[in-house]
Amino acid sequence: MPHTMLRCSECQIYHMPDMKTLGCESCGAPLDVEYIGDGGEQSGFRPPGWTGPNIPLPVHTSDAFVTLGEGGTPCVPLTNLSKSLGLTDLIAKLEFMNPTGSFKDRGTSIMMSVAREQGVREIVEDSSGNAGASVSAYAAKAGIKAHIFAPAAAPAAKLQQIKVYGAQTHAIEGSREDTARAAVDYCAERGLVYASHNLSPYFIEGTKTFAYELFQQFGDGIPGDIVMPVGNGSLFIGAWKGFSELRRADLLTSMPRLHAVQASAVMPLAAAYEGVEWKREPGSSTIAGGISVGDPPRLKQCLRVLQESGGVALAVDDDAIRDWHRRLAEVEGIYAEPTSAAAFAGLERLAAEGRFGKDGSVLVAVTGFGLKDAPPA
Ligand SMILES: Cc1ncc(COP(=O)(O)O)c(C=O)c1O
Ligand SMILES: [Zn+2]
Repeated sequence: MPHTMLRCSECQIYHMPDMKTLGCESCGAPLDVEYIGDGGEQSGFRPPGWTGPNIPLPVHTSDAFVTLGEGGTPCVPLTNLSKSLGLTDLIAKLEFMNPTGSFKDRGTSIMMSVAREQGVREIVEDSSGNAGASVSAYAAKAGIKAHIFAPAAAPAAKLQQIKVYGAQTHAIEGSREDTARAAVDYCAERGLVYASHNLSPYFIEGTKTFAYELFQQFGDGIPGDIVMPVGNGSLFIGAWKGFSELRRADLLTSMPRLHAVQASAVMPLAAAYEGVEWKREPGSSTIAGGISVGDPPRLKQCLRVLQESGGVALAVDDDAIRDWHRRLAEVEGIYAEPTSAAAFAGLERLAAEGRFGKDGSVLVAVTGFGLKDAPPA
């Protein structure tokens, strides 16, 4: 069985594995899981039913593993769109076919498994909606009490979904940042575990399975370019970590480029990638609520993924997102939430700018389901 330590993503200092430790004690940066001893990355937990290569995961026993059947999402060729965008091959990985309707279930499954292994009985999470619904569902399955903080203005369907799984819901007036602050204060007052999907190193270990699955679906021929919407970057960073592990295990000979799409109203990563100053305009908003993250704690890690993979970060406006939300449904029969449609607005720009590799094979992660968040017509 692998042993894990938590390692600072910036100053590299090691910390003992503990759900309560969400930042480096020396510099405050977010932490990552590292596998040490007993074969390190080559060992790892094999989720029941998984037939691909060993996945290093910080879960030790099948009893602790909290699963609702996440992963195994289909890859669908978008033949109608690929022609109009001038691509040889365009593939959608339908992440909204995870149990609660978004990719978040990959991360939540592992984060809640670690919580169960560490004997945690009650957790606090804050979310724009999808992660909250996911944590609420997996907490129900694990028998852990969950408090979910979400903006009062979050889509009604998402708030309803959080409630139905039984979490105590705290709707906070104000911004996404106000919601996070309220959750942190609540934890501090009551001495509870803050299971923040943005900060928890265990959440990213779960999103890694996106990369392992692509390897299982495409072998060494995974698409050369992958596009996704990025807010805090949990899928972006997790996917890259998974591909990097596969590369170190000599299973992948080449790595894909990972491209990050943001909304022009909230574009800290796209601005940092371009090397320009960015500050959120007071009152500015986007219909892509899942990526409305003004100050992502793992921004530096996202920049490193862009640099190492050779990917591009760009921002698209709400008109383009709205347009693609409809077009994706009309042309390919895929009903995604606006946050996910943003990736297609980015895809169109990247294709027009000739940014994709010569093989012309591109995959888009369709991260959340349309029924969760229908934009106003
Ligand atoms: C549907 C959807 N896509 C993408 C994202 C962005 O994920 P991350 O913040 O981990 O980059 C979110 C986050 O809430 C989401 O709900
Ligand atoms: Zn540090």
